Amino acid sequence: MLLKMLLSEQGSIYLHIDYKIGHYVKIVMDEIFGAENFRNDITRIKCNPKNFARKGYGNIKDLILFYSKSECPIWNEPKMPYTQEDKTKLFPKTDKNGKRYTTIPLHAPGETQNGNTSQAFKGILPPKGRHWRTDVATLELWDKQGLIEWSENGNPRKKIYLDEQEGKRVQDIWEMKDPQYPLYPTEKNADLLNLIIKTSSNADSYVLDCFCGSGTTLKSAQLLGRFWIGIDQSEQAIKVSAKKLDSITSDIFTPKPTYELIRCEIENTTTNIAFVARQADMLP
Ligand SMILES: C[S@@+](CC[C@H](N)C(=O)[O-])C[C@H]1O[C@@H](n2cnc3c(N)ncnc32)[C@H](O)[C@@H]1O
Repeated sequence: MLLKMLLSEQGSIYLHIDYKIGHYVKIVMDEIFGAENFRNDITRIKCNPKNFARKGYGNIKDLILFYSKSECPIWNEPKMPYTQEDKTKLFPKTDKNGKRYTTIPLHAPGETQNGNTSQAFKGILPPKGRHWRTDVATLELWDKQGLIEWSENGNPRKKIYLDEQEGKRVQDIWEMKDPQYPLYPTEKNADLLNLIIKTSSNADSYVLDCFCGSGTTLKSAQLLGRFWIGIDQSEQAIKVSAKKLDSITSDIFTPKPTYELIRCEIENTTTNIAFVARQADMLP
């Protein structure tokens, strides 16, 4: 509830949790953030399969619950590079210059009345119950540019070239295993935090990790030019976080982090103490 109060209207919260407790936490999160602000339950492949003797299937995943504060969170669409297999499967054709491409239909569901997406293109009307994806003038232009492929029975399709794509859409299963020789028992994969921070924040955003452990989030936030705050009840965690932050070597894009450490005594909680690491050049 406190994190919801602190979160900006454009902010998001990612709650990374074990599979044994995650479903109960989802119900609490729905109640606090609203089921309508639930965006994903991300399955994170955390390790290689292990051969424990336990009666049950091996556990190689945990989950990340992703909620936004409102319906318009910061969203910088992430893309993943295509694998060689994706390239041949998704872009099976090759043009005369050796460039890989695929084709997609030029029409979409729904009829438009009197619009310029329902008119004839090269004497062909869109199929019944459908309209052209764009106006006829643009279709003419694409055809002139060689971007339309005509099938043997005279159907036009748009060519989509592999080298013009930024990559593929990121899905909700992430294989991002934790470091094999961690600095801290629960240290997370830095790529995981980089993805989350890049996608759901901007360069001037504030990133808060209130269970920061070894400071993986803080380091990613620093390297990505965000402001950051880390909190942990463990003095050891803050020591490891400080070490990780101090290991950043500065260059023209990333200054060496300067930060302050604050020890807070908290009354009436089971924790009693929290250590806060806070980037020094943040606003008050
Ligand atoms: C799973 S670890 C975080 C790991 C971290 N993401 C990393 O990459 O190292 C959770 C952390 O939460 C801290 N913690 C647990 N309960 C807390 C509380 N009530 N207040 C502050 N920190 C707490 C623990 O000390 C632990 O370091």
